[in-house]
Amino acid sequence: MKLADNKATLSFSNGSPSVEMPVYHGSIGPDVIDIRKLYAQTGMFTYDPGFLSTASCQSAITYIDGDKGELLYRGYPIEQLATQCDFMETCHLLLYGNLPDAAGKVDFTKRVTQHTMVNEQMQFFLRGFRRDAHPMAIMTGLVGALSAFYHDSTDINNPEHREISAIRLIAKMPTLVAMAYKYSAGQPYMYPKNALSYSGNFMHMMFANPCEDYAVNPVIERALDRIFILHADHEQNASTSTVRLCGSSGTNPFAAIAAGVACLWGPAHGGANEACLNMLEDIQKMGGVAKVGEFMNQVKDKNSNVKLMGFGHRVYKNYDPRAKLMQETCKEVLGALGLENDPLFKLAMALEKIALEDDYFVQRKLYPNVDFYSGIVQRAIGIPVSLFTAIFALARTVGWIAQLNEMIGDPEYKIGRPRQLFTGSERRDVLPIDKR
Ligand code: CMC
Repeated sequence: MKLADNKATLSFSNGSPSVEMPVYHGSIGPDVIDIRKLYAQTGMFTYDPGFLSTASCQSAITYIDGDKGELLYRGYPIEQLATQCDFMETCHLLLYGNLPDAAGKVDFTKRVTQHTMVNEQMQFFLRGFRRDAHPMAIMTGLVGALSAFYHDSTDINNPEHREISAIRLIAKMPTLVAMAYKYSAGQPYMYPKNALSYSGNFMHMMFANPCEDYAVNPVIERALDRIFILHADHEQNASTSTVRLCGSSGTNPFAAIAAGVACLWGPAHGGANEACLNMLEDIQKMGGVAKVGEFMNQVKDKNSNVKLMGFGHRVYKNYDPRAKLMQETCKEVLGALGLENDPLFKLAMALEKIALEDDYFVQRKLYPNVDFYSGIVQRAIGIPVSLFTAIFALARTVGWIAQLNEMIGDPEYKIGRPRQLFTGSERRDVLPIDKR
């Protein structure tokens, strides 16, 4: 963060003295006005619901240029990472700031795979849930419960604890997601197989059973790995900000990540992939491509409350670069599985085409986001729709941890404590109950 030559001046129309505030440059992206002393100098807060104009922290991890449709992890474009690296390399990059060399990758992967099993007691904890519980309800519980199983790594201020809990979380998330799935299917849990890749092992825990041999399909393995890379981090989105805010109280990393999982569940955030696939299935039931026009009219009708799920983004006002990569993967997976004529994929393409030409979407700069195609890929792979957001959580865990650790290491970090504009009743006295 570099002090800029210029300063910001805030003046008031009522004659109150104006205030000067420093301006800082980042390495790329918009400058920020430092308002930390504003309250002390003016007795006023800023008002910014939804943080539309507020940088909540400084960060060197992920950069998004929403107008260009650019996403960089530690400076590397997502397109290069998705095509030239795998998820383990991406995790190393996000956590430590650099891509590993060959030996570093072997070492990091070994450290992660050593921790893929979860405490055996975890399955009994899982049994407390109904079989039809939503996987995100289960994941919120299981991730929070990790702090009870791994007491030796819960001090957020201890770098060794942070490191081991980071590795544990990355290693155990696929195991927990697969356990949640197996539990709902009434099938036996499959222990991790550490000879497999991160995504290959996840497929094995999801789709293998103890009665038969299971061979990992390399096209699907690569597709899952790409889904993980594309979802690994996305700067200060709602769940990441939740993790930072939760962690700012000094709570343990497992509890902070559980808060992120809970936030991600919402349909405006990670739950959009599930909502998007449900939407495609509903349109398909209504009559498919022939009904797209009718559905679009509902979306554009402000009284309908219907949204085109998988479209629009707070930051991207141009095509989401992850959606392009996801569409490519979608074609590859459907081709490899002989599902080229998948009606939902055709429907998604028809919706996208109409939306991109429609004034409503053009004027509002609404483009497909990553979730528009990720659901179709996951469904083709055999992942149940209700598990989609849990897979997003699995992938985002590394980003959450990287951001949490960055916050703890930031000398300017303080407990998060937003202020408010109070609009409720002024002070009043309690009347006796017969006089109210
Ligand atoms: N369908 C129809 N209209 C939309 C949509 C949509 N998907 N998204 C935004 N709009 C309209 C919105 O109604 C508003 O119109 P108006 O100006 O007439 O009131 C305008 O576009 C601006 O939208 P906004 O709600 O002010 O934008 P936002 O930045 O607050 O919301 C969003 C961003 C992602 C919550 C929103 O676009 C949305 O709900 N999209 C659908 C859900 C979705 O796909 N979410 C996944 C996001 S990407 C994955 C992730 O990072 O979690």
